Amino acid sequence: MFNDQIQNVIDRVDAIRHEVDDAWQIPAHQALVLAQVVRIGRFKSLLEVGVSYGFSTLHLAAAAREHGGHVHAIDISEKKITAATGHLTQAGLLDSVTLHLGDARAVLKTLQPVEPIDFIFNDADKAQAIAYLEAAQALLADRCVVALDNTDDNPATRPCVEWLREAAGGRSCNVSVGNGFELAILERHP
Ligand SMILES: C[S@@+](CC[C@H](N)C(=O)[O-])C[C@H]1O[C@@H](n2cnc3c(N)ncnc32)[C@H](O)[C@@H]1O
Repeated sequence: MFNDQIQNVIDRVDAIRHEVDDAWQIPAHQALVLAQVVRIGRFKSLLEVGVSYGFSTLHLAAAAREHGGHVHAIDISEKKITAATGHLTQAGLLDSVTLHLGDARAVLKTLQPVEPIDFIFNDADKAQAIAYLEAAQALLADRCVVALDNTDDNPATRPCVEWLREAAGGRSCNVSVGNGFELAILERHP
């Protein structure tokens, strides 16, 4: 699915989930599906809220790079941003990612993506999942796909699932792969 350089780093970062107790990264098969969604949608300006050690970021960036896309990725932990920077560098993907350290609700107020955001992977504090989307509103493309993680294993995602279904006018569904994720299409109509 990816070149050897990228795959070697992905395999090493995948193993981190067994070595530390704060990786909280998506399962490998879910990461492959997300990468495939990015390829299919040919998203150019991606936002990831919740990077951790960079496992999902590696997948999003590798898929986006194939069609010239770029990922803005935010995490509140300095330790994790440092680790993710190292992993993306080793994979040769750092040019396709801008990593931001801070609370996503604050970072999103100053973020200036070159192109409006057309894909969001929402995977940080579930109690704040709606707040991240509200903070990103002014940055969104007229059509933006949102993937919200943990819909099958964390009831705290429920309010955001309802928010997405309302905002998507029904064009939102659960995908029971890995942790489960809600996949919604948000469209702004003139
Ligand atoms: C579930 S982990 C992300 C896993 C990653 N998406 C993956 O699959 O490899 C959630 C991350 O969100 C970060 N986080 C929590 N609250 C945050 C906030 N308000 N702003 C930015 N990041 C936050 C945590 O530091 C943690 O690394």
